[in-house]
Amino acid sequence: MTAVLDARVCRPARIRALAPVVGADATAPITGSASPVTYANLDYAASAPALTAVADRLAGALAEYASVHRGAGHLSQVTTARYEQARETVRSFVGARADDTVVFTRNTTDSINLAASITPGDVVVLDIEHHANLLPWTRAGRARVVSSQPTIDDTIFALDAELAKAPAALLAVTAASNVTGEVLPIARLAGLAHRHGARILVDGAQLVPHRATSIASFGVDYLVFSGHKLYAPFGAGVLVGRSDWLDAAEPYLAGGGASATVGIDVAWHTGAARHEAGSPNVLGAVSIAAAAQALRAIGFERIGQHEEALVRRLDDGLAALPHVRPLRIFDDAYGRVGIASFVVDGYTPRQVAEHLSGGHGIGVRDGKFCAHPLLAKLGHSDGAVRASFGVGTGSDDVDRLLAALAELG
Ligand code: ALA
Repeated sequence: MTAVLDARVCRPARIRALAPVVGADATAPITGSASPVTYANLDYAASAPALTAVADRLAGALAEYASVHRGAGHLSQVTTARYEQARETVRSFVGARADDTVVFTRNTTDSINLAASITPGDVVVLDIEHHANLLPWTRAGRARVVSSQPTIDDTIFALDAELAKAPAALLAVTAASNVTGEVLPIARLAGLAHRHGARILVDGAQLVPHRATSIASFGVDYLVFSGHKLYAPFGAGVLVGRSDWLDAAEPYLAGGGASATVGIDVAWHTGAARHEAGSPNVLGAVSIAAAAQALRAIGFERIGQHEEALVRRLDDGLAALPHVRPLRIFDDAYGRVGIASFVVDGYTPRQVAEHLSGGHGIGVRDGKFCAHPLLAKLGHSDGAVRASFGVGTGSDDVDRLLAALAELG
């Protein structure tokens, strides 16, 4: 699709942010200038700003905050109900099955470590993954790492061959690359895993905030994601999925809340409580639920259109800068979320990031994005620069980035 053009001036039309976020008016100092500028946050893939709706909801929950699952007092009851309601909101938000378990964790990394502790066998993974979806499996001695191919079709062929070689318990795969934003065909991958008698775990950290996700209709067995990328930056994450492995495994953490009775022997709870020992992060869970409701109210169709328009604008702008070289994994990706990584000829990624920050008040991430094998494979072992965005981003942010990068040519 071509960019929307304003016919009078023949320039792409301005795109406004889709939803208010906390900190949208924050300023940043500029080197050598007494006047700060409005901060352009292009680092959503690391941690997205809080939606204003999330902060408002959190203020209400804080006003009635008390213990969870512990007390008979009124506010304990209110807070417990809020926490359990958050679980149901998340279940519905990700289209989980009625009998799936929704476990609140610390973040995606924590969720995948929990998954590694319950998975009864080998795990097939791709070499494009964030370390969160590599290291828990390699540490457990379970990982069979498959080399991604230049196309998704050939990558699926390689996964097929690996799954056919020997039985695996699980295929663990990202839904969208945290380096390039490229989206993988989750329903197809779920079908592939199931044909080989394996289950599938999907790392939804970079997809769930940006596209509608449905565990049941994608045929996914486990989905993990983080609150802090979902505009809910209060330290909680989620693992949603089939109950049987979760109930059969040892509790992830031993302690109160996970245990039903304790004497010489311990009887552990089943369900989410089994893996949520200790007082849970109720405000983190409430924040995730608030973000889920706010994103649904905006609508993922609108969110997708907004982000795709910004991606096109950024891609078109980068294509006009010959000294900027974008990173891609696949020739045939199923679209991209709002992430673009690139290198700039003649500059290290850190120099570029410092130019953007100190010279222009633009925040991006530079480095290897906790995806060292992928960066090495793409020929960028020294890292790259990543710009990423979402519902709080407008075209002004993208245009500022492009203008600042043009200065490096
Ligand atoms: N996992 C986050 C990222 O990709 C921190 O930047």
